[in-house]
Amino acid sequence: MDMNDVKNRGLVMLGCGKMGSAMLQGWLGQGLPAASTWILDPHPSDWVQGLVAEGLHLNTDLPEEPAIVLIAVKPQMMEEALPVLTPLGNGKTLFISVAAGKSLAFYEQALGGNTPIIRAMPNTPAAILRGITALVGNGNTGDTELALAESLLQAVGQTVRLENEAQIDAVTGVSGSGPAYVFLMIEALAAAGVEQGLPADMAMQLAKATVSGAGQLAETADEDPAQLRVNVTSPQGTTAAALEVLMDPETGLTPLMKRAVAASSDRSKELSK
Ligand SMILES: NC(=O)c1ccc[n+]([C@@H]2O[C@H](COP(=O)([O-])OP(=O)(O)OC[C@H]3O[C@@H](n4cnc5c(N)ncnc54)[C@H](OP(=O)(O)O)[C@@H]3O)[C@@H](O)[C@H]2O)c1
Repeated sequence: MDMNDVKNRGLVMLGCGKMGSAMLQGWLGQGLPAASTWILDPHPSDWVQGLVAEGLHLNTDLPEEPAIVLIAVKPQMMEEALPVLTPLGNGKTLFISVAAGKSLAFYEQALGGNTPIIRAMPNTPAAILRGITALVGNGNTGDTELALAESLLQAVGQTVRLENEAQIDAVTGVSGSGPAYVFLMIEALAAAGVEQGLPADMAMQLAKATVSGAGQLAETADEDPAQLRVNVTSPQGTTAAALEVLMDPETGLTPLMKRAVAASSDRSKELSK
């Protein structure tokens, strides 16, 4: 199964909101014809409705055996939304779910035990094609299915393969929920700048550019982040003074981040029960 297969047999999306649209945008940009795409969504966006003119199938009957079904509805809508897909289960259609907290076992129960299913955890920078998605498949998937899912998800950013499903809770805590931590970091950095006497809009501009520039540097530099930090920290200097606060073993950023990521992972575990 490959991208040509997806073109020929079709791709079905259950739910096309923020995450679904980000992915669809990536796929269309990479040459997936709108006419190969079926969308089920009771309240499609104007953008999705506009694609109907290009051949996209919106809330119509589904193909008999599409190559891929992407499940991108909110977990709380799942019980209501999923039954329409059961006729596609137990066959050759590969299901990919991005819904938080819905386990592979849940889908096997709903769609049939022989259904190939991949669980994926993306994040919102997918909207600007800078996402990262972690994947894990059930026993009916192998390297071919994972490779196809990876090539689809790489349309919106990077991918990583997990060793087991339990790791998805940790991924949720790190990269799934992570963008919100970084947004808070920007808010906090800007607020601290205001406290030191800067105008609010300038402090925000400084904070945004600093986080985004440092993030890009961390991703592209040969040195690891720890070395990049050392490189900008002269002894007794200004950065050293701040890092002394941030690297306090009890009250610093590391123990705080550990607690935050653990809270997100715990919540993810709870939701999948
Ligand atoms: N956003 C993230 O950062 C993120 C990260 C990782 C995973 N996820 C997962 O991605 C999934 C989608 O999240 P999202 O942010 O894209 O949510 P969203 O914007 O609310 O998109 C969900 C879409 O599904 C539609 N829908 C509701 N009931 C449906 C039904 N019965 N059949 C078909 N479609 C239906 C919704 O329509 P209405 O608006 O009319 O309800 C909406 O357009 C969630 O399961 C979430 O856990 C999201």
